[in-house]
Amino acid sequence: MDKIQSLTGMLDLYDDGNGDNLSVKIFETEKILREIFSNYQFKEIRTPALEETVLFKRSVGDLSDIVNKEIYSFNDKNEKSIALRPEGTAGIIRSIIEKKLDQSTHKLCYLGPMWRYERPQKGRYRQFHQAGVEILGYPEGAPEFEIVSIVCKIIEEFGLKNCLIKINHLGNKNNKESFCRALADYLEPHKDKLDDKDLERLSRNPLRILDSKNQDTQSLLENAPSIKDFIEPSSIKILMDIKSQFSDICDIEIDYSLVRGLDYYSGFVFEAVSSDLGAQSSFLGGGRYDHLCSRLGGKDLPSIGMAIGIERFASLLKGITSSNKMTSFLVVTSNLEPKAYKIAHQLRSLNKNIILDLQLSEASLKSKLRKANKSNADYAIIIGDEELKTDTAILKYLKDKNKDQETLSVEELFRLYKSI
Ligand code: HAM
Repeated sequence: MDKIQSLTGMLDLYDDGNGDNLSVKIFETEKILREIFSNYQFKEIRTPALEETVLFKRSVGDLSDIVNKEIYSFNDKNEKSIALRPEGTAGIIRSIIEKKLDQSTHKLCYLGPMWRYERPQKGRYRQFHQAGVEILGYPEGAPEFEIVSIVCKIIEEFGLKNCLIKINHLGNKNNKESFCRALADYLEPHKDKLDDKDLERLSRNPLRILDSKNQDTQSLLENAPSIKDFIEPSSIKILMDIKSQFSDICDIEIDYSLVRGLDYYSGFVFEAVSSDLGAQSSFLGGGRYDHLCSRLGGKDLPSIGMAIGIERFASLLKGITSSNKMTSFLVVTSNLEPKAYKIAHQLRSLNKNIILDLQLSEASLKSKLRKANKSNADYAIIIGDEELKTDTAILKYLKDKNKDQETLSVEELFRLYKSI
């Protein structure tokens, strides 16, 4: 029989309790991010993984690499073209329009898998996870600061070193158009030096040339017009203000050549990069997208958001101590086990801050205690036939070797458990 394997670029994530393992770091990262989002009063939204392909063509842009080359799209049984979402923002706006919520304000957060058919390498997968926030319905101003604040909070909370937040402003529609025209005029006489990809960008969306990976193009761009000369003074002020207010928390740099790989952005944009990540250095990105909602058939809904690439982010963490809760291990060596399992149930209800694990398979007392020690439990609760007959349990301190084990009545054990 042919061996069945996972698809290229798609990871199985598995918690083996080892804090150096990427999966464990990912799970822990997700938990902490949820707490941070909730502290900023973001409400969760969960949209489907599958959407009509046209949603992404209209939002992310059919010229973008994401839609052009990387989208997982196929026809369903009704011959409708559907796609696995390559990012979260488009589906959220589709949902808001569908629910007729596109005239109110929202602060939403999400977390889930995304799919892009990219060439897999370290930090770049075909299925990966994003956690993101979207602030909908508020024009430029306070939301820019709130978004940068949450990005700084995340970097601070996880103690990330060697990272830099790059910020830029793409201006309003007119600024963007004038800049694109100037850029196109500048590049026109050098067309013979551009590769096919950059030539196509030049004819359809010149702004994207700034993101070219071609060294020759990048050298040409050194003397190209800068967006700085096309945006309003108020846009430059926002960049300056953000830099001056948050630079004492995180490194922030104004980078007038920063453009994003998705077409829906206007105004303030940013990316966070880390020198520890190698080629795929960006672990987070976002910006303002005031025209997406109307482009998808909804009302004008000025919006801003960001998403973190969880795999890349988690790989930056040094090692995770997964829980600071106390842990106990119930060792049952009794023929009257069902009663012991009821005690375990009651203990768990008494104190949610203590993790209680128990051995699920038959083994000797010695091997069960070995397992309890291996699980790093603070103490073991031993219940054998004798204890069950007398309604008692033995409490054995696993980490504090100087303390003798003690026999407690089950009532005393309950009281003690509750009081920890
Ligand atoms: P994005 O920059 O395309 O933005 O993706 C955000 C993050 O997802 C990236 O910084 C990167 O860490 C991660 N990422 C992207 N592709 C991959 C991949 N193939 N493998 C692993 N990680 C990856 C967005 O998706 C926007 N929706 C962000 C946003 C929200 N803008 C406004 N609101």
